[in-house]
Amino acid sequence: MKHFLSTNDWTESEIQEILNFAKKLKKDPYQPLLKNKSVAMLFFNPSSRTRTSFEVGISELSGKAIVLQPGKDAWPIEFEENIVMDGAAEEHVKEVAKVLAEYCDCIAIRAFPLFKNWQKDRLDNVIKSFAKYSSVPVVNMETIEHPCQELAHILTLQEHYGDLKGRDYLLTWTYHPRPLNTAVANSSLMIASKFGMNVTLLCPSEDYLLDDRYLKRAKEECEKAGSNFAVSHDIERAYSGKEIVYAKSWGSLVNYGNPEIQSAENEQHKHFIVDGQKMNLTNNAVFSHCLPLRRNIKATDEVMDAKYCLAVKEAANRKHVQKSLLTNIL
Ligand code: CP
Repeated sequence: MKHFLSTNDWTESEIQEILNFAKKLKKDPYQPLLKNKSVAMLFFNPSSRTRTSFEVGISELSGKAIVLQPGKDAWPIEFEENIVMDGAAEEHVKEVAKVLAEYCDCIAIRAFPLFKNWQKDRLDNVIKSFAKYSSVPVVNMETIEHPCQELAHILTLQEHYGDLKGRDYLLTWTYHPRPLNTAVANSSLMIASKFGMNVTLLCPSEDYLLDDRYLKRAKEECEKAGSNFAVSHDIERAYSGKEIVYAKSWGSLVNYGNPEIQSAENEQHKHFIVDGQKMNLTNNAVFSHCLPLRRNIKATDEVMDAKYCLAVKEAANRKHVQKSLLTNIL
């Protein structure tokens, strides 16, 4: 049994196998590959793309998806071990994971961090607990990483460029009024480096650096692939000559747990918005974003409406890669 918690647990060739089958499923979408299989999808946070693409994708493969929102339409769950459960939770993950595994062939989880204490949040306790107690595979639908988005991102770039080795890739921080999750940014560094690209992380200052775990992984993967990894705070230099621009906003880890301070910090960096002028510095780069995206806050209309914007294609590819992933692990 293999979980899909992080692409860090999967080799490049294992991931490529998933992408290759996703390309086949894209051409021939309706196959009974998940007949008599069911997937419990637990959403602790909102979703539009992830929920829809999983539900439709599972149905296209003749499987059954069950959506549960703990604390809303399902019982709230406790994750601390050895605790007197006198709070809001009505049951413990030990029972929830074991019971759902009795009914379903896979458990998929969306559980964002709590945005209070990064040292706690970086342990990714919710999905790790499900993986510990479930006897069926567990899939990450976004926690502190977003591996399904990574699959769609790479498939979309391969459809555009073919081989990605040695391509010049920029992950840029972009403005948002609120401090957001670092998951997609962490994922972007991991997958771009795993696929052998030269990776640059552009962010306003050292305060916005991602967790060292992800910086280290990206550096190591780049070294292994013979590519470069760089951090920059210089917008013009970072955009120059790039072939891929991926944008994401996140809150600074230095002031994690202080959303008012983080928002005030973000206000000083509105000029990181992705616009046509910055894209003109690149080597005819494609642009993408995981979505949702606030237009003219994170990226301008000009960028979002340009032919080089692959954001909708990437979102569409979520369905194909997830169908391939579920077929692979089930
Ligand atoms: N990109 C993504 O995961 O979108 P949702 O939050 O809408 O699922």
